[in-house]
Amino acid sequence: MGSPPRLAFVAALAAVGLLAGVATAAAAATEEAYVTLLYGDEFVLGVRVLGKSIRDTGTRRDLVVLVSDGVSDYSRKLLQADGWIVKHITLLANPNQVRPKRFWGVYTKLKIFNMTSYRKVVYLDADTVVVKSIEDLFKCGKFCGNLKHSERMNSGVMVVEPSETVFKDMMRQIDSLPSYTGGDQGFLNSYYADFANSHVYEPDKPSTPEPETQRLSTLYNADVGLYMLANKWMVDEKELRVIHYTLGPLKPWDWWTAWLVKPVGVWQIPMMFILYN
Ligand SMILES: *[C@@H]1O[C@H](CO)[C@@H](O)[C@H](O)[C@H]1NC(C)=O
Repeated sequence: MGSPPRLAFVAALAAVGLLAGVATAAAAATEEAYVTLLYGDEFVLGVRVLGKSIRDTGTRRDLVVLVSDGVSDYSRKLLQADGWIVKHITLLANPNQVRPKRFWGVYTKLKIFNMTSYRKVVYLDADTVVVKSIEDLFKCGKFCGNLKHSERMNSGVMVVEPSETVFKDMMRQIDSLPSYTGGDQGFLNSYYADFANSHVYEPDKPSTPEPETQRLSTLYNADVGLYMLANKWMVDEKELRVIHYTLGPLKPWDWWTAWLVKPVGVWQIPMMFILYN
């Protein structure tokens, strides 16, 4: 008998909670932020797990998700309720028109260089999970990233000092600089042509003058592919910071892959929390 009113009460409480959460998130603007990018609903669970994994490190910095038109209102509200600051962005057109249609908008990631309301942003792809605090990345310089296979910069985890000058310069060169991927990663490799020669960032040893680019240790962008090759991490497992599920269609939220990839277990702990709370 009393259950419909109680349900309504619970719903009202949830709504208040949601609003309060949004208000707090909007008010607590920080100078530095974690940022990710979402093009469609397919990766929403990925972003939620990433967000939970970042919050579990105890950070007080903003968590910003840039969403494009393909993301539904429902997903935006879920992310907001999780504590993400949801910012709508339009896709950045791809100058390499010969590429297949699915590559449209793959330059959009460059927009993080235009987030000038923040002094520094740590960007993480939606298919990464933070397993240990990465707050020390905010001390890295103007542009920091990982060097992966064949001496190339991987754009899955990056530290960026947003700058209108740099962003405008990139936009000016977007049609002329080659991109081996047909997207942002290839472009950034051309833009920061000397990246492979950058020194490795050491959080406890700041370099002066601050270099234009710095390399991050593999610990900040540990490839699951790397794990699969050797069936163990090629790095000290206790020191791992970020796991990157770079296996194309094989994403950790396809949980039937669990038997195949041990690191999926790491991903499933925050996921279970989100699904069952
Ligand atoms: C870059 O940021 C400025 C200031 O927020 C904004 O007016 C402009 O539209 C942005 N450019 C793009 C291409 O998103």
